[in-house]
Amino acid sequence: MAIETRLVTVFGGSGFVGRYIVRALAARGYRVRVALRRPHTAPDLKVMGRVGQIQLMQANLRFKASIEQAVDGADAVVNCVGLLFESGAQNFKSLHVQGARSIAEAAKAAGITNAVHISAIGADEDSGSDYARTKALGEAAVRGALPGAAILRPSIIFGPEDEFFNKFAKMAQMSPALPLIGGGRTLFQPVYAEDVAKAVTRIITAGSAGQTYELGGPGTYTFKELLAYVLNVIDKKRILVPLPWPVAMAMGFAGELSGALPVITPFLTRDQVTNLKTDNIVGEQAQGFDALGIQPEALEAIVPTYLERYRKYGQFHERLEDIKEN
Ligand SMILES: NC(=O)c1ccc[n+]([C@@H]2O[C@H](COP(=O)([O-])OP(=O)(O)OC[C@H]3O[C@@H](n4cnc5c(N)ncnc54)[C@H](OP(=O)(O)O)[C@@H]3O)[C@@H](O)[C@H]2O)c1
Repeated sequence: MAIETRLVTVFGGSGFVGRYIVRALAARGYRVRVALRRPHTAPDLKVMGRVGQIQLMQANLRFKASIEQAVDGADAVVNCVGLLFESGAQNFKSLHVQGARSIAEAAKAAGITNAVHISAIGADEDSGSDYARTKALGEAAVRGALPGAAILRPSIIFGPEDEFFNKFAKMAQMSPALPLIGGGRTLFQPVYAEDVAKAVTRIITAGSAGQTYELGGPGTYTFKELLAYVLNVIDKKRILVPLPWPVAMAMGFAGELSGALPVITPFLTRDQVTNLKTDNIVGEQAQGFDALGIQPEALEAIVPTYLERYRKYGQFHERLEDIKEN
């Protein structure tokens, strides 16, 4: 395939979803400039394209000058920087709102109108969750500076490196019980990382036109159903313990305290608990994959391929029932 002359700058390209986006843009032939804080930590990104097709450039969303340099000469911009919990200067306001605004303003100043901003389902200026509220404020900031930018709001995203299915499968290896936060009734519409990346590439190729898309996979599940599914795939029996919201909040607080220690990622935060009170599914009126001509993958087709490592005998694991049947 011939390499496109068009250059796309991707902020957050070293993250879980960002890597899928970089790979998809490279496969489509774009030159990709990955703007990231520590380029030396992600040399593997370069082999996602041909020699010279992918370049790494140092940029930090908290420093405007680095953003301006990263968008200089680009034809399009993608922002997939986000946080699940705050830590010092790395907070929701500085990244979800100010960082998003800085990218949009830098793009505008550079004459770029083709842009994709990754937000999240549940983004809501009135939300009690700081994550959801700053996601909404970020969307507004992007639209204020760059009305033509497309906004993508995914539900929970799955893939071999995800932080949801892996987290609970790992927990099931160590613990006799898994927590049903708030009773486990919150609804999710898990979406495959590769489908999110496909959506980004389609929009960049067609040129963004100020649309908002909510991205969810073909199935809707309660939190409880997802945990039961993980246990079924890894063939482990664990007790699902309902945690009322106040108890979950207390766990979130304990998670935050542990997160204050260096290199420890909080298992749960109070803000995440608050966020879990709202269903995470595509709105009835929202446009989504259909409008982009994409048929999203079902989680049942993908998740077992990477959760098999949590089974007792990994890829060689067989269920007792299956052995008995044969
Ligand atoms: N994963 C999900 O289930 C999900 C669901 C809905 C929406 N989203 C949204 O999708 C986007 C991507 O999520 P993800 O799961 O891929 O997150 P992720 O794996 O944590 O990646 C976040 C990226 O942001 C970069 N970053 C953090 N702070 C930065 C800074 N100050 N300047 C520049 N880059 C910075 C990180 O790079 P470093 O290596 O420098 O930290 C990383 O590349 C986010 O906006 C998230 O809110 C995710």
